Order: sequence, then structure tokens, then C-alpha cells
Amino acid sequence: MPATVIVGAQWGDEGKGKIVDLLAQHSDLVCRYNGGPNAGHTIVVKGETYKLKHIPSGILRGKVCVIGAGCVVDAQVMIEELDDLETRGVSTGLVRLSGNAHLVMPWHLAIDRGSERRLGKLKIGTTRRGIGPTYADKAYRLGIRVQDLLDPKILRQKIEVALAEKNVWLERVYGAEPIQLGGLVERYEGYAERLRPLIADTSLLIDRALREGQRVIFDGAHGTLLDLDHGTYPFVTSSPTVAGGAAVGTGIGPTRIDSVIGVAKAYVTRVGEGPFPTEIEGANHDRLQELGGEFGTVTGRQRRCGWLDLVALRYAVRLNGITSLALTKLDVLSAFADLPVCVRYLLPNGAETADFPAHQSDFHHCRPVYETLPGWQEPLDGIESIRGLPDDARRYVEFVERELEVEVSLIGTGADRQRVLSPRGLETVAS
Ligand code: IMP
Repeated sequence: MPATVIVGAQWGDEGKGKIVDLLAQHSDLVCRYNGGPNAGHTIVVKGETYKLKHIPSGILRGKVCVIGAGCVVDAQVMIEELDDLETRGVSTGLVRLSGNAHLVMPWHLAIDRGSERRLGKLKIGTTRRGIGPTYADKAYRLGIRVQDLLDPKILRQKIEVALAEKNVWLERVYGAEPIQLGGLVERYEGYAERLRPLIADTSLLIDRALREGQRVIFDGAHGTLLDLDHGTYPFVTSSPTVAGGAAVGTGIGPTRIDSVIGVAKAYVTRVGEGPFPTEIEGANHDRLQELGGEFGTVTGRQRRCGWLDLVALRYAVRLNGITSLALTKLDVLSAFADLPVCVRYLLPNGAETADFPAHQSDFHHCRPVYETLPGWQEPLDGIESIRGLPDDARRYVEFVERELEVEVSLIGTGADRQRVLSPRGLETVAS
């Protein structure tokens, strides 16, 4: 390998957690490079469901799990996650947290809620986990970093300075209650005690691992179309979700990355507001949503569902430099006789394009041009190799490969960790 990025190729929730979990067995380190408690991985191991927010799913394989500088951490949520894993018998001793990661503070949560309320119909539809305000303060240089937890004097001073400004915002702009300083610093000193043993120079840790020839996975949170720079702005998250973010967000050079696996559902989902050309209307929507269990890991919100969009996926291949694709949840499509796949967009000026529009208005008003493939209409249970797939299911996968000129190296056929087909074998996927 040794360094592979695994990145969501749509609007998040593509099933990355399961793919990371699977490939983690052939790796030494699993590193998160962006996002915070707005991300969620659901992994089913032997019928037991784990919902992870901060901690990379490699934890279930006993791997070193890094939370990089590009992440934002809600200390309380992270500690609850650590405690829950420990209670269930999963050791968290190998979690390493960058001192440069930023903390989601109580005022960030309050501002996220206040801002969405204030935007009304124009709201982003955020996860309300304080993500945007935390990244905004990071850029504004008013953020509080994990390493500030290590020095009570610095911690108190930074909290006081930030809170003095944030309370003005909360009261005057959002009409919200101010946050009391009393007890807050002590609460964070308590978090510091719990997190202290995990705090490390994670850039150095990853560099050493790579020099020793260890295998490193970079686990991207969210999805390509939620990228702050290249996604469907403003309906995006506030961090770089694309593969290039792995270098920035963990502190390694881009030349260290060897391959990029894009994870895409065999259809598309989206949570929150924003344009979505292939969104399905009517009974098929509800059917797909129910069969796919399309309800958010973090917020429990219903996910909007659509047919596979190859224009958007082609864009994801380009932005991330995807070297192979993992196509997940193919089994969910077993229920449908016809499978429309979007191959081009019809733009408002009447032109058709196979490339993602550079201008937001074209994207907002485009219409999908579909090619309809026959469904296979049989369950994919018990299939153990690509040859065992129904012919039409195999043709669906081959169609995607042909259109995108990228190989599909993994195919998800069910929720359990075992139910992934890998035509070339697992060890070779991330190599
Ligand atoms: P935020 O990340 O909470 O600021 O939310 C911004 C947008 O990103 C909203 O549309 C969210 O629904 C979306 N979003 C953030 N994280 C995820 C994710 O992991 N999966 C799907 N959508 C997400």
C-alpha cells in the first residue's frame, strides 16, 4: 500500500465505515483527517451495531486510530464514545488525538442552532453539532485546541476570551441565553484528565509508521459533494472532505498517498437541504428509503434518496483522484424492476453535459438524463464471488466501470461486515 485514502464519493453516508473496517484488517493505522461529531459510521459486527462519531472504525479491529489536526472534537461526546466502547469490551488504548485538533465548545453548539433558526427557509440543514462555528473560529483564530487542555492557565484564559465575544453574539444576534463561565473551565479540566493520555504528535506518528513500511488508511468523513471548496456550497460541511484533505488534515505530504478508494452507494442519498438532480419522487422513494434504512446515524433524520448519478460520481473521481471504487448497498436495488442511472445533465440552455456544472445555477436547474438498466429482482444473499451475482447486477456494476473508467474493486451486498465482494481479493484492494 502503504497509504490509502478512503473517501465518500457522494453526499456522505456511503458506507465508508464498513469499507474502512474491512480494509483495516490489513492495515496498521487508521486516521481521520476531517470533521467531528457530525460524522457517523455504523458498523455491524456479529449482529452487534456500533455507531461511531469521532473514533475511526479501525478501533473494532484493534488498530492504532488517529484523530488528526483537521478534525474538530466535542470532548464530552468523544469521552462518551470511548466509555461506551470500553464498556462493550473494545479497548480504546490505541486512540491517538492530535493536539492541533480544535474543540467544539458549548457556544459553537448554541451558535449552530441559533444560526439555523435565524436563516429559516434558507437554512443549511446542519447536524447542529457546532461544526461550522468551530471551523469558523479556527479560521478566525479564536478556536480552542486540544493541546490547550494540557495547560489549565492557557485553557482558562482562552475560554474567557472566547466566551466574552461569543456571549455578545448569542445575546444580541441570536437572542439566546449567554453561557456561564462558572464551572465551565472545571468541566474542561475534567475532560483534560480523561483525554490527556491520548494526546500525541500524530503527524510524527504517521510519518514514522510510513517510514517503517506500515500500512495506513486515511478515513475521510462525510462525502465529496459536502466539501467546503468543491461541494454544493453553501449546502456543505465546513471541512475539506476530498482526498487531498487527508494530507492537510493529518500533516503528511501529498506525495505520501498511494491510492484513493472512493465509496459510493449503488444509488444516492442526501441529508439536509440543497439541490439533488436524481432525487426520486413518490412510492419508489419511500421504498428505497425503507429498504436501505436511510435514516441518519447522527441525527436520525430521513435521508433523501435518488438514482445513481454518474455525472456527480465522475466529478468525485476527478476531485479525489479515485483509483478504484467501492460500490455499496447493491442489494437494496434488488427490489426494483428498472434502474434509471443518470449519465448526463440537461442544462437550462438545452445543452447536455457529462461533466459536473461549474456554476451553481446550472446545477440547481439541471435535469437528469437517464439510461435505464434492467433490475435483477432477486436477493443477493449468500453470494460469495462476483461470478455469483445475477447477470443484470454484474452488468450494472460493469456499466458504472465503463462510464467512469474506474474499476469497481469492492461491492457491498448487505449490512454485515462479511457481505462485501472483492473481485481482486481484499489484500490487493488497498495496495
Ligand atoms: P454540518 O456538517 O453539521 O455543518 O452540516 C452541513 C451539511 O452537511 C448538512 O447538509 C448536513 O446534513 C451534511 N452532513 C454533515 N455530515 C454529514 C454526514 O456524515 N453524512 C451526510 N450528511 C452530512
